[in-house]
Amino acid sequence: MTGRGVRLVLLGPPGVGKGTQGRLLSALYGIPQIGTGDIFRTAVKERTPMGVVAKTYMDAGKLVPDDVTIGLVEERLAAADTANGFILDGFPRTAQQATALDAMMHRRGVPLDAVIEIVVDPAEVVRRLTGRRLCAVCQTPYHVESAPSRLPGVCDKCGGPLILRPDDDEATVVTRVAEYQRKTAPLTDYYRAAGLLRVVDGNADVETVFGRIRAALGEPVRPGA
Ligand code: AP5
Ligand code: ZN
Repeated sequence: MTGRGVRLVLLGPPGVGKGTQGRLLSALYGIPQIGTGDIFRTAVKERTPMGVVAKTYMDAGKLVPDDVTIGLVEERLAAADTANGFILDGFPRTAQQATALDAMMHRRGVPLDAVIEIVVDPAEVVRRLTGRRLCAVCQTPYHVESAPSRLPGVCDKCGGPLILRPDDDEATVVTRVAEYQRKTAPLTDYYRAAGLLRVVDGNADVETVFGRIRAALGEPVRPGA
């Protein structure tokens, strides 16, 4: 997948590794990873008007309203750095967002290339979320066991402090998973019907899962990956 750019969507419940794999795909293709959760967290930190609205929903584990989220993505996709493509991580998450994305792609005159659904066993998701640490500055995700930073509590990339995400406590995770099942899971049928869905088994280490995603996209895969 090169030449005319690559436009991907990463789909899957909280903690399956969308952010982790999105960063690797971004480096592979040289295109931006657009994580709506990341953008909302930055807005919350900067206390922008959008951040103030988003915070109440995020803290409760609920989805931010569609109009806010769609407007945000529309604006982000208008930026020049998306000319050769993008990786949407965590968008769309509702039928209305999926329809809006279709309209955006129609206006661009190029289709999505693939929607990658990452599937992970529930017990492993709990392990990943409870051990997750996030850079407060650049939002790179780490895991205390499976993806530790070189220096404890310090981001390898930017030196920022590693923090626990406020919505990773058990009660909020339960709500986030329920929101996913109710509002986002139906999108798999939508994208399967469109011939775009690629289901990837995420029950393996980061590199192995990345190899599976590359294979699903028809990219050459190194031996053993
Ligand atoms: P968002 O930030 O998108 O959260 P999420 O979907 O719940 O996903 P996560 O970030 O929790 O997990 P991930 O799949 O990215 O996993 P990660 O790579 O970090 O959204 C947060 C909130 O923002 C939402 O609740 C909502 O309020 C709002 N929002 C966002 N988008 C929205 C939208 N479109 N509409 C409305 N509201 C929206 O990995 C998890 C951990 O596992 C890490 O520690 C990582 O190091 C580790 N790990 C990853 N891969 C592996 C592996 N293969 N093996 C072992 N460990 C691994
Ligand atoms: Zn950082």
